[in-house]
Amino acid sequence: MNPNPPAPVIEVKGLTCGYGRAVILQDVSFVVHPGEVLFVIGGSGCGKSTLLRCLIGLLKPLQGDIAYFGKSFTAADATQRREILKTFGVIYQSNALWSSMTLAENVSLPLEEHTSLSRPDREEIVTLKLAQVGLSGSEELYPAELSGGMKKRAALARALALDPAIVFFDEPSEGLDPITSREMDRLIRQVRDVLGTTMIIVSHQLSSIFRLADRVLVLERAAKGIIAEGKPADLAAHSPDPRVRDFLIQDLSLAKTSGQPFAA
Ligand SMILES: Nc1ncnc2c1ncn2[C@@H]1O[C@H](COP(=O)(O)OP(=O)(O)OP(=O)(O)O)[C@@H](O)[C@H]1O
Ligand SMILES: [Mg+2]
Repeated sequence: MNPNPPAPVIEVKGLTCGYGRAVILQDVSFVVHPGEVLFVIGGSGCGKSTLLRCLIGLLKPLQGDIAYFGKSFTAADATQRREILKTFGVIYQSNALWSSMTLAENVSLPLEEHTSLSRPDREEIVTLKLAQVGLSGSEELYPAELSGGMKKRAALARALALDPAIVFFDEPSEGLDPITSREMDRLIRQVRDVLGTTMIIVSHQLSSIFRLADRVLVLERAAKGIIAEGKPADLAAHSPDPRVRDFLIQDLSLAKTSGQPFAA
């Protein structure tokens, strides 16, 4: 065994969070390893988006600590917080592209906000990022001119603009047909393999979970936290918890056929 395993990218310890008096997640702890594709799964209302909001700093934890690369995000001052925020990109469920801006302008936005790069340098990065997600030549299109799959790709290009170590992706397959969803999964895998990006993905899509996840965290509403974690195939076959098996075996035959790993 490696005596010095790499430090976790994210370390969550005793996290409790919620809204007003309602506690949604209680005393949740987990780590995320470098280059890992971690899926957060579970039934509707179990707190997946709430967890994501805490991790990206949109919701303040009631208790506990979230650390990135060994540095506390929860206890960080404004400057440290800005530095940590720069290490991750977020793709919201709605994509959150600016409708009045072209794709190039959308992708360029984080570069204008967080760097002092010249305009030609920014344009070069925008071209590269759009190429990385398969949208070369779409620079001048507006979001309304894009298909659902193209919008997700564009949002991914924008999230990658600052070369983040971590990407948070909320429901990458939502609203996509099975073929486009599979292409999206392939792209996510490619980004991880080529750039080494750590991915935290919230998803309901069983085929994506089986195809992409190195590990899943299963959240449950009544438990207010994680009821299982592990490789999806192991959990589906061997979890002692019927709630976990039920969730993963809803249609395992479909997941098995459409969730085959990609050919090299
Ligand atoms: N802004 C909010 N104010 C108050 N309660 C909220 C808020 N957002 C979510 N909740 C509640 O927190 C619980 C968890 O919601 P959350 O959106 O995290 O679930 P989820 O697992 O993402 O569900 P889904 O799969 O439907 O997206 C739900 O009971 C929800 O009603
Ligand atoms: Mg949600």
